Amino acid sequence: MRPLLIIESTCDETAVAVVDERHQVLSSVVASQEALHERFGGVVPEIAARAHLERMLPTIDQALEQAGLELSEISGIAVANTPGLAGSLLVGVAAAKALCVAFDLPLLAVNHLQAHIYACQLTSERNVFPCIGFIVSGGHTNLYRCESPLDFTLLGSTIDDAAGEAFDKVASMLGLTYPGGPSIQKAAENGDPKKYSFPRSFLHQPDRMEFSFSGLKTAVRYQISRTEPPHIAIQNLNSQEIADLAASFQAAVVEVLVGKVLQAVEKYQLPRICVGGGVAANRAFRERLTNQCQKKNVELVIAPNSLCTDNAVMGAIAWERWRAGLFESLDLDAYPGLVRQD
Ligand code: KG4
Ligand code: ZN
Repeated sequence: MRPLLIIESTCDETAVAVVDERHQVLSSVVASQEALHERFGGVVPEIAARAHLERMLPTIDQALEQAGLELSEISGIAVANTPGLAGSLLVGVAAAKALCVAFDLPLLAVNHLQAHIYACQLTSERNVFPCIGFIVSGGHTNLYRCESPLDFTLLGSTIDDAAGEAFDKVASMLGLTYPGGPSIQKAAENGDPKKYSFPRSFLHQPDRMEFSFSGLKTAVRYQISRTEPPHIAIQNLNSQEIADLAASFQAAVVEVLVGKVLQAVEKYQLPRICVGGGVAANRAFRERLTNQCQKKNVELVIAPNSLCTDNAVMGAIAWERWRAGLFESLDLDAYPGLVRQD
């Protein structure tokens, strides 16, 4: 079977990949918009949508060129159509539909969150299902019971901010660059994770498959204004204070994330954990989770960093839909908030 062309434009990365049914990656291009959003300290939806529009066709061309293929040599087009930013999703969905019409190709839909978990299937040499799927990204902190690549049940999620969002907001409070996750990770290297004792919401409530990071964010904000001398301006924090705040914040997030996913795997008696999303690239998180899973004899699959942050390769989950005959018509819509039930 000829490969699929996969389009991902749910947030701020315009990504296109060409992947065959045996999961051989013939090309993968990610056109990042980080530089455009950096000065705002977060993704600006209007800017993201316009940037996707500019980058979409060149990124598709580049992916085809790298794969050494023409569109006439592609089996079908897959596109992430949920969840994400409305304007961003629409650009990808419109591009995919146009290619399907022009080249008479079948259209497949990709659920971006399921694709994040599927990155683990692509990484692992064997079947990772059933598993607890854990998505820790800029927009989501979701725990799933994943029976198969097409059967995901949401167990719980954040009641306020997502973990990545908390990283981004706290980084901005500390005057660190966007995206906040990598900046906090770097600053934390020289900090003391025990210097400040920040809240760990729901960690000691194993029956509640929920997360909350807004109280933690507020606690960091209060700590900044309490740092000696009192009411110090953020721009006057010295580098050691920034490092200690970053390390203590990161330790609180990591402890909660690791604690809750282990509670889930125990509660639902599943053999393994699969983790995806940008925050899964965090070194402290990977180390602690790896360590704890070894101790508790739970199998862990985390994709390499390049497959954790947004990319189109993980959209190879579309091959599962292909095999199940789940094709889309040309009135496929974009669902920003709605995780469509399959
Ligand atoms: O999955 P992703 O690329 O996009 C979404 O679908 O949201 O995740 C982006 C998020 C951002 O909030 C970013 O700060 C965070 O992932 N992130 C990290 C790290 N790398 C990216 N958070 C903590 N540590 C990292 N090393
Ligand atoms: Zn994502």
